[in-house]
Amino acid sequence: MKGLVLSGGKGTRLYPITYTRAKQLVPVANKPVLFRVIESIRDADIEEIGIVVGNTAAEIQEVVGDGSRWGVRITYIPQEAPLGLAHAVKISQDFLGDNNFVMFLGDNVIQGGISKLIRDFETNAYNAQVVLKKVSEPQHYGVAELDEHERIRRLVEKPRQPQSDLALVGIYMFDPNIFQAVQAIKPSWRGELEITDAIQWLVENGFDVHPYVHKGWWIDTGKPIDMLEANNRVLLEIVPNVAGYIDRDSDVDARVTIEAGAEVINSVVRGPTIIGSNSRLINAYVGPFTSIYHDCLLENVEIEHSIVMEQCTLKNIPNRIEDSLIGRNVEISHSAIKPRAYKLTIGDNSQLGLL
Ligand code: G1P
Repeated sequence: MKGLVLSGGKGTRLYPITYTRAKQLVPVANKPVLFRVIESIRDADIEEIGIVVGNTAAEIQEVVGDGSRWGVRITYIPQEAPLGLAHAVKISQDFLGDNNFVMFLGDNVIQGGISKLIRDFETNAYNAQVVLKKVSEPQHYGVAELDEHERIRRLVEKPRQPQSDLALVGIYMFDPNIFQAVQAIKPSWRGELEITDAIQWLVENGFDVHPYVHKGWWIDTGKPIDMLEANNRVLLEIVPNVAGYIDRDSDVDARVTIEAGAEVINSVVRGPTIIGSNSRLINAYVGPFTSIYHDCLLENVEIEHSIVMEQCTLKNIPNRIEDSLIGRNVEISHSAIKPRAYKLTIGDNSQLGLL
């Protein structure tokens, strides 16, 4: 069994963060989403992983490397344009050979990993297995309609009027018959070769496609709100650990992780929360569901339910920051210089909610 991770795309719904960073590398609980995907595949005992990359290839290769850090071997497969998930399978045929494989979208975060799914797929010798999850707005996803025997009747990509509330999670298992399917289908209205259409082709041609309904949480981290939601979920699951320094005047509860080299001075930190390596909190309040990545300084600041990426400085801010996604190297401070006004240098497509 091999792994195929899709890590292309522009991440337009995460602008401006994704002007300068691949969306799969945005940290959730201080770890890029893509690293969690690689770890889930490794934990299912798969050692050969192909990563399909687009125009963020250089950044992804630099950060992920050859996979030895996780004990896996990584091969990069360039996709010349985002022509669809089924196109990604097509161009990966040489890498996949005649192996079964799991395809995992590099921006999906799922509870509980995929080891059990892989075992079920291997033992039952299905031709394909799809993971489904009940959602409230199925029109944004591929949607599966099941019959009375819980078998797949039909799969439709982003239907205007969904006939079911079961969305296709971005995790799929295939045997080599999928290559016939991706050759047979035509591009959709959005000009992409849809994996949903390829799986529908398998169903129509009598192959055994097994639907697995996932009971835990699943998040497709497309928008800032999804990133914050994924951050909440993951923070609730990590086992807290204090490797950094907390001074006597601080109050840090038991659900907080303080990474090595971090310092908490005269501050209050309520978990679940993570403070990254070499970050400093001085006279700060960091509330629940917050991830502060490495090398940040927070002084005289209150923040909660937010993600702050590396090397940020947040200083002397009079109002509490909430529900925020703050990119790398950002500086936010209260200025004493007149006139009393907001002084902003912010990128295209930024969103600010001012008091
Ligand atoms: C893709 C698939 C869709 C699936 C979703 C899961 O959508 O086409 O069927 O439900 O991933 O994350 P896209 O992210 O391309 O809009």
